Amino acid sequence: MRVVRTEADLRDARAALATPVGFVPTMGALHAGHVSLVSRARGECASVVASIYVNPLQFGAGEDLGRYPRTFDADKTVLRASGVDVLFAPDDAVMYPPGSNATIDPGPVADHLEGERRPGHFRGVATVVRKLFDLIAPQRAYFGQKDAQQLAVVRAMTAALDLPVEIVGCPIVREADGLAMSSRNVYLGADERREAVKLSRVLRAIAQALAVGGRDVAAITARAASMLSPLRSDYLAVVDPNAFAPLETAPRGADLLTVGAAYCGTTRLIDNVDVRTP
Ligand code: PAJ
Repeated sequence: MRVVRTEADLRDARAALATPVGFVPTMGALHAGHVSLVSRARGECASVVASIYVNPLQFGAGEDLGRYPRTFDADKTVLRASGVDVLFAPDDAVMYPPGSNATIDPGPVADHLEGERRPGHFRGVATVVRKLFDLIAPQRAYFGQKDAQQLAVVRAMTAALDLPVEIVGCPIVREADGLAMSSRNVYLGADERREAVKLSRVLRAIAQALAVGGRDVAAITARAASMLSPLRSDYLAVVDPNAFAPLETAPRGADLLTVGAAYCGTTRLIDNVDVRTP
């Protein structure tokens, strides 16, 4: 595995890669969820490029940019063992040289839920993903369903800008008890870790109610939310997986997502469960 840090070295490494090139963007602190994306890319592509970059543009003021977990040496070992050909690990001066102030508008998918709670977050995601696509020129890019609204933003941007990249969504990898894996789970204390699973349980309960024909989203989410304590709900919603506008009534015969965010202590968890309504 070649580790490159500059645009020039990246272009040099990229030129030597067989196509199709699969790309897995990450912010590091890698876990089995990230590895599942790399494995999928490895299985489907002739070459695999991964990136590790903690993108300041997608963190709001008062969020965890400064203390986001950074485990570069361990990440490198994981990526090498997973068959990555090129690891791109730029610093801020490479990604955002002085004067590079233009950004990508993430479009209407970003108006709801995560985008509403984290102003500017999806603008930061869309901008860095677009720049990484330009630099790496992959044929396919792999994103986790864990960040379902991010996946929808990336799909919408790719379609709107006619980017020549196929976006591949990959299933959520969970811990044995059902907690969705996340780099931020290291923030959880032991007691919090035990309670954290409740978000996934509540989302499954909502999905189950929809799967048997329940349609009144407010009533269903209110009932399920009572099982969330001691976690504090930020939102629980049911959405179309491409649009992300919260629905009041679940349509019949539709593929939907139940999405949620909740605080476990001071740690903010997000998760989602897909469901097909009858
Ligand atoms: P990061 O949180 O490091 O996640 C990188 C990729 O791993 C994303 O596509 C995310 O959805 C996926 N992922 C995380 N946890 C997962 C899990 N439990 N199961 C499956 N996939 C999982 O998402 C980002 O970084 C950044 O926003 C990025 C796209 C790199 C842009 O900065």
